[in-house]
Amino acid sequence: MMDRDKRLKSILPTLSGATQAIRTGLDRTPEREHSEPIFTTSSFVFPDAAIMADAFMNNSGLSIYGRVDNPTVDGFCKRLAVMERAQACEATASGMGAILSTLMAHCQAGDRILVSTGVFGATLNLVKNFFVKYGLEVELLSPTDISAWEQALSRPAKLAYCETPSNPTIEIVDIEALGAICRAHQCLFVVDNCFMTPVLQTPLSMGADLVIHSATKYLDGQGRVLGGAVLGPAELVEPVTAFIRSGGVTISAFNAWIFLKGLETLDIRMKAHSENAHQLAAWLVEQPQIAHVNYAGLPSHPQKQLIDRQMQSGGGVLSFSLKDGGREEVWSFLNATCLMSLTANLGDVKTTICHPATSTHGRLDDADRKLMGISENMIRIAVGLESVDDLIEDCERGLAAIAP
Ligand SMILES: Cc1ncc(COP(=O)(O)O)c(C=O)c1O
Repeated sequence: MMDRDKRLKSILPTLSGATQAIRTGLDRTPEREHSEPIFTTSSFVFPDAAIMADAFMNNSGLSIYGRVDNPTVDGFCKRLAVMERAQACEATASGMGAILSTLMAHCQAGDRILVSTGVFGATLNLVKNFFVKYGLEVELLSPTDISAWEQALSRPAKLAYCETPSNPTIEIVDIEALGAICRAHQCLFVVDNCFMTPVLQTPLSMGADLVIHSATKYLDGQGRVLGGAVLGPAELVEPVTAFIRSGGVTISAFNAWIFLKGLETLDIRMKAHSENAHQLAAWLVEQPQIAHVNYAGLPSHPQKQLIDRQMQSGGGVLSFSLKDGGREEVWSFLNATCLMSLTANLGDVKTTICHPATSTHGRLDDADRKLMGISENMIRIAVGLESVDDLIEDCERGLAAIAP
């Protein structure tokens, strides 16, 4: 390492979060590269048998094998850990891989887990259709009803799981309040921070035990690759690491590199996503064909006080429901737009639009969709970084298609 790299490394922890997000990560190799390298190799070689044995048996820190470790992946984990204020981070092949690994590592047959009704459709499918099969008891609770969680915790529970804001209803979980209740009942509290990212919210500093990411979303920021991460104190992340080593839910070095580079612009992107989403939400509220807009940045959000306390801004995702009609009208709206991409992903600089009831949450049964507050007349927009005027014009095309 060059002397100036050593000097920077020694002062880095004292620099601002935005600077650390750009400068923390991989040590420069003797090639003196500026951008971090991608180590595309499945295994690593050792100079002699004793050093190899030390790496395998004593975790000496030398990389061993791609399913277990990789310097590019480590660089991504270090950078994200600094941002989330986490002691440890483990990366996974997808966001669902991070959720699966966390539950596999921390739960066993006979355990009871509490899950917010406001979680991503696949998360609900995973716990209800698979973990229940292996002996986990799952109880679903409203993200906004803290007293219901407190009551549920009067019986022992291993883990409490939520997303905040919820997708796509934009309901907010009071992280501090739920964290305190979980702590009092020795229940692990896990927060999916995908919608906010550490730029807008750091759940670990508010009482969460573990944070989950679908890195696929904002950490990438340009809709290129899938990945996930689990963050928290070392003793809680280590069991997750052990599962990933055996379970093979490993991230590729290339994907980790995309996220590593994505984190360099996350701060500025999240602020821009929030600004655009705020302007679009304010316009949508004024439209007579729209019944209700769910956006965390609106002054009319019923949890405004909590939002101001917990989040830096409203983030990039909003949803709204049409005043008249249902699926047919929503599809007409979607089909009339052409700038916004008709796709289920979010967190992209390109704005995306979808009908949750027939896409992200389409595989749930009607009862679960109802429980999650997902109606047939709801549209979700993950606002990107195009000009807001152009996005408004695209929404006008949608509204014109359903004009009475
Ligand atoms: C909040 C949230 N968590 C987790 C996931 C799953 O992530 P992935 O698609 O990377 O597996 C998603 C995907 O949309 C999501 O929106």
